[in-house]
Amino acid sequence: PLPPAFQVPLPIPAVLAPVGTSGGADRYEITQREAAVEILPGIRTPMWTYGGTFPGPTIESRRGRPITVRHRNELPVPTVVHLHGGRTPASADGYPTDLVLPEGWPDAARTGHGGHGMGGHGMHDPRAAVTRLTRDYAFPLDQRPTLLWYHDHRMDFTGPAIWRGLAGLHIVRDDAEDALGLPAGRRELPLMIADRVFAADGRLDYPALDPSLRERPGVRGAFLAGVLGDVILVNGAPWPVHEVDAARYRLRILNASNARHYELEAVTGDGRRLDLVQVGADQGLLAAPVTHRLLPMAPAERYDVIVDFAGVPVGGRVRVVNRLGSGRTRDVMAFRVARKDTDKSRIPRVLSRDLPAWRRSDAARVREISFRAGRMHGGHGWLIDGKPFDPARTDVTVRLGEVEVWRLVADVHHPVHLHLVGFRVLARGGGRPLPHDAGLKDTVSLRPGESVEIITRFDGYRGRFLFHCHNAEHEDMGMMANLEIV
Ligand code: C2O
Ligand code: CU
Repeated sequence: PLPPAFQVPLPIPAVLAPVGTSGGADRYEITQREAAVEILPGIRTPMWTYGGTFPGPTIESRRGRPITVRHRNELPVPTVVHLHGGRTPASADGYPTDLVLPEGWPDAARTGHGGHGMGGHGMHDPRAAVTRLTRDYAFPLDQRPTLLWYHDHRMDFTGPAIWRGLAGLHIVRDDAEDALGLPAGRRELPLMIADRVFAADGRLDYPALDPSLRERPGVRGAFLAGVLGDVILVNGAPWPVHEVDAARYRLRILNASNARHYELEAVTGDGRRLDLVQVGADQGLLAAPVTHRLLPMAPAERYDVIVDFAGVPVGGRVRVVNRLGSGRTRDVMAFRVARKDTDKSRIPRVLSRDLPAWRRSDAARVREISFRAGRMHGGHGWLIDGKPFDPARTDVTVRLGEVEVWRLVADVHHPVHLHLVGFRVLARGGGRPLPHDAGLKDTVSLRPGESVEIITRFDGYRGRFLFHCHNAEHEDMGMMANLEIV
């Protein structure tokens, strides 16, 4: 029962209102619960949701103004929330064993560890901070304005939990960015792109070994490289269409797919490719705009892009296409130019002046870290430096405030994500970074056989954080490691 492309209107996730303010921090509440969501027209798809919708509600915050989000877990399994790209103390960073247990789930004492959500590998994490039913996550949000996203991060089960719907957007803003004059209001559109598979009855299909997601992690053999869908959703709608003015729009794009890569282009009815003027990366504004015709996006990457529809005739259509897709997965969404209108927006030549300019000579050390397939627990795994994830092991210890260069080496495609810090791409494949590597990032796409050098200063907070592959199936099958900041 799949709809034709470009028929379903693009939904914009609702912005969540705070329930109150205490001590200068806005308080939010989100209930994680099962809900029947209309994704395909006229069909109810049972999902796991933040607040009953997919995507979950968008949180909009101001730089430096802390918030707390009380999550209440009414799902049948443990959960844990991570704010991806957040500069968050370890206690609220959503470590994969810091579980919120649902009512009736055997408690940590009885199971001897952080709960069944630890997965089937019998690991014990003495540092896990487990709560029952609710947890208050406190986010300082002392960071550059940008598009973040929040999603489930439960050990061994992140892929299927996100697939079932546990993902939402979070936009950090500040006065300096507001003053730039970029397209705003209804001309600023968050776009969460994610692929899914639907069974004939409208249920989501995911090749989990244990569909209850209670005990045994993992996917069926054919899906070890990652789970791809044949339906492309934007903000939870299949191949949607959005009516626009013949004017500039700011698109805040997130690839929230488990494993699918995109190479996006915006093509007019007469086959012209529109400029995609990038103004921001994962961690906020670039120093200056960078113009692309083709934008590669790995899972978890975000791009902040201005597209000008002024040259498109009224009634014309602009298709957003994924050059890496085939058949129906080539289409992503479309814009229909509905009317002429004035446009007071601008794209300043200088966007920000606060980008860190770390140099190789600032680095206290260079580490080489490999991302490769291997054996784990007797089966196939995805390994970092030859090891599968173990919460009880510290993999990398860095000193708070030190600058390091990491040389990341891949066998196949791996989007590598660091928690807590933004980094800059220093080199790719032994040469210069690519145009889309500009700015401050938190996820970098390692292409097959490639090495990428990144540089960052590990500042912010001490404690236990993570770095991992953001192909969600790779992550669940071991490709995650502990980063201890001391
Ligand atoms: Cu988006 Cu560790 O995750
Ligand atoms: Cu990977």
